[in-house]
Amino acid sequence: MKVTVFGCGYLGATHAACLAELGHEVLGVDVDEAKVAGLQNGDLPFYEPGLPDVLRRNLAAGRLQFTTDYDRAAAFADVHFLGVGTPQKKGEYAADLRHVYAVIDELAPRLCGDHLIIGKSTVPVGTSEELKRRARSASGDGAEINIAWNPEFLREGHAVDDTLRPDRIVLGIDSSDSAGSAEAQVRDLYSAILATGTPFLVTDLATAELVKVSANAFLATKISFINAISEVCEASGADVSMLADAIGFDDRIGRRFLNAGLGFGGGCLPKDIRAFMARAGELGADQALTFLREVDSINMRRRTAMVELTTEVCGNTLLGKNIAVLGAAFKPESDDVRDSPALNVAGQLQLKGAAVSVFDPKAIDNSRKVFPTLTYADSVHEACRQADAVLVLTEWTEFVHMDPAALRPLVRNMNVIDGRRCLDAGAWRRAGWSYSSLGGPVRDLRGYVASRV
Ligand code: UDX
Repeated sequence: MKVTVFGCGYLGATHAACLAELGHEVLGVDVDEAKVAGLQNGDLPFYEPGLPDVLRRNLAAGRLQFTTDYDRAAAFADVHFLGVGTPQKKGEYAADLRHVYAVIDELAPRLCGDHLIIGKSTVPVGTSEELKRRARSASGDGAEINIAWNPEFLREGHAVDDTLRPDRIVLGIDSSDSAGSAEAQVRDLYSAILATGTPFLVTDLATAELVKVSANAFLATKISFINAISEVCEASGADVSMLADAIGFDDRIGRRFLNAGLGFGGGCLPKDIRAFMARAGELGADQALTFLREVDSINMRRRTAMVELTTEVCGNTLLGKNIAVLGAAFKPESDDVRDSPALNVAGQLQLKGAAVSVFDPKAIDNSRKVFPTLTYADSVHEACRQADAVLVLTEWTEFVHMDPAALRPLVRNMNVIDGRRCLDAGAWRRAGWSYSSLGGPVRDLRGYVASRV
């Protein structure tokens, strides 16, 4: 099939490349000329394992192209995906929908004949109905535009796998589409994925929009739940990682997303829970989501707690202290520093008088743009030179498997603070380090090592 994908950021570029991988002819469309030129040359503007291969293979096969030209896009296909960003509005909780509206306003007047626009962006419930109205009023007499919603659940760092092997496909269709034409087209598009038995849920438009934000709200709540429990563990001397293992064996709870520590960040969870609260308020259901305010504040409290723990470890002052910060990306296998807890902590420590040296395997360039005043190191060893405390704030494999003995001669004081509870506490202690962890103690009982999933 021939399809376009509007928006070539994280979501759109991945979706375009993966649709081509499924055998479709795909045109990615973006207003950013430099991004389009880069993608057309096989260069991804972000780090995502496995995606460069998919991109280049499909460019070479001629199945994938990129453009800034809306006329070309309108004529290229009659199925169009919408994958532009919906960031948080400045100074407000609500989502900024200007990019979504801009695509519809530009595209709709150029369409002739029957077209299906499938939304993938995370949007407030009710957006697709508004887009339908907008598209129909902007289009000419010869166009029939149908809107559907197919939320995207991909995780950064696993984007290709999550797109080609999703755990479910959700499709919201318009109630006026009684012939089921959107469903038939989407079934064709995803036939290779559906053939593997992937669950396919057809819903109304509002439900599909809500599925996405509800899933992210649930994940954020799960992380803040375990981080709230970790505050009680801190106060009582219990080990929250062992506790997570123990409650996680209950299938109703599950162990995943119960890793206590510095909490969540990134371009999705924080802004999605805020936009969800704002939308519920507009709908008169604001009381329903007040708990998400607490989820947000538990999460933000972890960053302050990390700064306090570091100050305590450094003898109650950060003045004149050298701090090595290992990790800047909001999570491993990503170079994304949007709302990164690690960078936030690094910035706070510097403002409190510490000399902070940051290392991350992939996110240094992006970090420099956001926080140009921090010092950036080229390696773990360089960051740790003369450090009074070594902080692990993103659980890159490289950090998890560091050799504590090799770092010993580099530092000024042997303090390691595990912001993600990902290090082998026993090994660090045996090598002579003073080991502290965010979220209370890590117990070394009979060699028990808590899991991280
Ligand atoms: C999230 C959703 O998982 C995905 O389905 C949606 O499409 C986009 O938003 P992503 O932002 O890529 O994906 O990251 P995710 O893996 O969910 O992690 C989010 C944050 O939570 C990271 O900062 C991570 O470090 C943190 N986290 C995750 C924890 O603190 N503890 C955990 O147990 C899991």
